[in-house]
Amino acid sequence: MAYRDLREWLTQVSELGELKTVEGADWDLEIGAIIEMARKESQIAPCLLFDSIKGFAKGLRLVAGQLNSIKRVALTCGMPTDMATMDLVAAMRKKIKEMKPIPPREVKDGPFMENVWEEKDVDVLRFPTPRYNIGDGGRYIGTGHLTITRDPEEGWLNIGTYRVMIHDSKSVGLYISPGRHARIQMEKYFAQNRPMPVALSLGHDPLLFMASAFEVPYGLSEYDFAGGLKGAPIDVVKLARTGLQVPATAEVVIEGECLPGD
Ligand SMILES: Cc1cc2nc3c(=O)[nH]c(=O)nc-3n(C[C@H](O)[C@H](O)[C@H](O)COP(=O)(O)O)c2cc1C
Repeated sequence: MAYRDLREWLTQVSELGELKTVEGADWDLEIGAIIEMARKESQIAPCLLFDSIKGFAKGLRLVAGQLNSIKRVALTCGMPTDMATMDLVAAMRKKIKEMKPIPPREVKDGPFMENVWEEKDVDVLRFPTPRYNIGDGGRYIGTGHLTITRDPEEGWLNIGTYRVMIHDSKSVGLYISPGRHARIQMEKYFAQNRPMPVALSLGHDPLLFMASAFEVPYGLSEYDFAGGLKGAPIDVVKLARTGLQVPATAEVVIEGECLPGD
């Protein structure tokens, strides 16, 4: 059944019997270990919903392993959840081959705009962000997120998943590998000594995460690609400062810029 946002998606995953809530885990290494164990130890890795994370209020939740099962991939792609794996693969190949991209639809606002922190009030440490592994350089706030950037010459929006680590309460850093589309865009901005505006979406329709990690051709926005997969435009909100469009049903949005030489 079609779902409207991540919250409805979670309800449907729960109805499929694939959602497991974990209360009271520690953001420092414990969440990372639980995710790894859940993935390795069960035949169908559950979707994990962490709540009441140590040191954080109940309701500041973290979801992990969203697409680690065939049923959840099918749900996300609008396919019947009882499909056999190879039938789903065949159906998806056909869909991707035949679908036409659909541009996003701009709407006025989204729930994330009810709480806006700017300038001195910005504090990304208010979110329960895990340090996943012992060797990590810090706490990764972006792993299943969307990085939204605009091509400075052509104007289209790219969406990619490029890891985001917290540096301090007011700054985060991205790692974008050479050749990735946002890296090409960033190099264009930096060649002109201009900062690159960036928006990050944390918590959204898992279809967008799937699209953001999909290697679509340079020049095709993953919003259009995801709209094509969904068969309907993705609702987006235009941010006031950067003019970048983010999913209207995003849970959390971070708006900022990457600076040349930094
Ligand atoms: C969970 C996850 C994490 C990823 N992390 C990174 C990353 O840190 N840096 C990176 O360059 N690519 C990363 N990728 C791969 C890119 O998201 C992927 O290649 C995507 O297609 C890039 O988009 P683009 O083709 O628009 O550049 C990651 C993918 C996934 C699924």
